[in-house]
Amino acid sequence: MIVAEGLTRSFGDRQALAGIDLRAPAGTVLSLLGPNGAGKTTTVRILTTLLRPDGGRATVAGHDVGDAPEAVRERIGLSGQYAAVDERLTARENLYLIARLYGMSRRTARRRTGDLLDRFALTEAADRPSGNFSGGMRRRLDLAGALTARPAVVFLDEPTTGLDPRGRADTWQAVEDLVADGTTVLLTTQYLEEADRLADSIVVVDHGRVIARGTANELKDAVGGERITLRPAEPRAVGAIAEVLASLGPYRPETDRRTGKVSVATDHGAAALQRALAALQAAHLDVRDVSLAPPTLDDVFLALTGRPRSADDPPAQEPGPPVQDHADGPEREPGEHHGAGTRQHAAHRRGAPAWRP
Ligand SMILES: Nc1ncnc2c1ncn2[C@@H]1O[C@H](COP(=O)(O)OP(=O)(O)O)[C@@H](O)[C@H]1O
Ligand SMILES: [Mg+2]
Repeated sequence: MIVAEGLTRSFGDRQALAGIDLRAPAGTVLSLLGPNGAGKTTTVRILTTLLRPDGGRATVAGHDVGDAPEAVRERIGLSGQYAAVDERLTARENLYLIARLYGMSRRTARRRTGDLLDRFALTEAADRPSGNFSGGMRRRLDLAGALTARPAVVFLDEPTTGLDPRGRADTWQAVEDLVADGTTVLLTTQYLEEADRLADSIVVVDHGRVIARGTANELKDAVGGERITLRPAEPRAVGAIAEVLASLGPYRPETDRRTGKVSVATDHGAAALQRALAALQAAHLDVRDVSLAPPTLDDVFLALTGRPRSADDPPAQEPGPPVQDHADGPEREPGEHHGAGTRQHAAHRRGAPAWRP
């Protein structure tokens, strides 16, 4: 349903896309995963006929985006990175307007509007001006608008950025419902967890290039299953702690000088954590806090590129911490970058012996 080959696009002397190849079979979810500025929105704009590529070609639902943009538009829905709702109209009026623009009769448009309001839990707020809606409600309304004409292919550009956990869960459910109905979905995200949960296949993009593709499990295997992260009780002990963790192998610990934390990949979860803590205790090294968590986009990034996300990338925020539901744009908190260059490239570690407690 989605095929892109060698898409390139520059803005002035800045190359936003340097050759993107994509493929999404019908009824699947393809996730474009990458940090800010990677080229996700530019790709979505090309595939939805809003922007012409400089080079390459793409077809959506069997139609070429350059030669047959109207045919493509008839078959797609788009929920852009920033919810596009008319703030002066109520939720019901927004959806009714879209339905009428798609050529539905008044009666069909009224029925479709009612169904969508129900489905996205907007019935109660249906007759209030959407300008007063929370970020989550606006996003739901925008998504409902994108689905008005029952498109075969739906594009969702960072659908959960800036949403609170409840809004995120609702959006994930909506995507799962779409797929159950046979819709093909292309979803962009900065969150590995989101791609993990929803996507059949993931394409990791950076600086307009595809740097990896595969299933979530394949990507995580490249990083190690989970990560142990420790903060020393005594900041100066960071080097000694890293040495103890290194001696447990096979993954090399990384030290983040900025946060003073040490982290290391592991394939053995809680057992490895216990073993690490026992080894540190035996060495009389105290830790102040400790966590065991799945790899983040930062971790995947470091493993794939051998470098942390560049300093000018705004930090990614993983789903989880509560975020105000009133954001009208992406909300960010300072994230964590791992220290530079201490990690071996993933490919070199593949045959490494497992860390067994
Ligand atoms: N209309 C534009 N004019 C100039 N530069 C742009 C424009 N759109 C995107 N870019 C640049 O192209 C790169 C990719 O942007 P974008 O596709 O929005 O990335 P993402 O959606 O992954 O954050 C960025 O460096 C961005 O600054
Ligand atoms: Mg974007």
